Amino acid sequence: MAKIALMCAPSFFEVREVKNPHMVSRVDHARAQQQWNNLLHELERSGVTVETIAPVKNLEDMVFAANQVFVGHHSEIGKFVVPSRMRYQSRQQEVPFYVDWFRRRGYKIIDLSLTAEYLEGHGDLLWHPGSALIWAGYGFRSTRGGVAKFAAAMTELGFEVKPLELVDEHCYHLDTCFNPLNGEAVLIYPGAFSAGSLETIRAGWKRVHELTREEAIQFIANGIVVNGRYITPRLTPNLVNILAQEKLTPVMVETSEFEKSGGSAFCMKTFIE
Ligand code: ARG
Repeated sequence: MAKIALMCAPSFFEVREVKNPHMVSRVDHARAQQQWNNLLHELERSGVTVETIAPVKNLEDMVFAANQVFVGHHSEIGKFVVPSRMRYQSRQQEVPFYVDWFRRRGYKIIDLSLTAEYLEGHGDLLWHPGSALIWAGYGFRSTRGGVAKFAAAMTELGFEVKPLELVDEHCYHLDTCFNPLNGEAVLIYPGAFSAGSLETIRAGWKRVHELTREEAIQFIANGIVVNGRYITPRLTPNLVNILAQEKLTPVMVETSEFEKSGGSAFCMKTFIE
């Protein structure tokens, strides 16, 4: 199946302000660029067309292309994006660049008046494959109120939103602890969710595959599912077993430099188709 991803080169990537507990050491710029190139090639080898947005000086986290907008497609209004309101001010400045990129490509912009709420794109908002349902994490970055405003707008379009409360600081975005592998199976780290949210997950999927905390904080849930593959920064016997059950072929990429900022493969792209 044809897929298009949007990425942003790490030209100005840096670990500056500590925005999550992973951000403790400095970036090796040459390695970061190499790892980014390699991820791009791995996506291309998986049949993905990669488009890029120009990096902007001083926007050190702009490389994390999953966060600035939520991308969707609606039978009547067509392709649309919902701009994020990032919790950290330094990251709020990334959003207009992404919104412009999408606007120029004809996407409808659904601006929520988020006022004091936060919403962080596909860091916290994940489509359920093949259905009109969106899983929405909140607690550390996106707020419960931000998710509520998003849910109201999506409900109007006929999409359902299921909020999930995040409780482990190391899993501050939903994409660090929850990864839909297909329409029936999800990969999660259960300790990242409140008891009620865990129940919601168990009721919503035929198969729930569990990672340990150790695996989750090594970004094993932050892989990319694409055309029968799972692009991951690491493999463990547990993950190998899960991927075999779901008929996904593991592909490894090194993302050590981006992990120093709290992100891995999933966060470095957004699928636009
Ligand atoms: N340093 C970035 C931040 O804390 C990392 C974002 C990673 N993105 C993600 N979708 N998990 O905002």
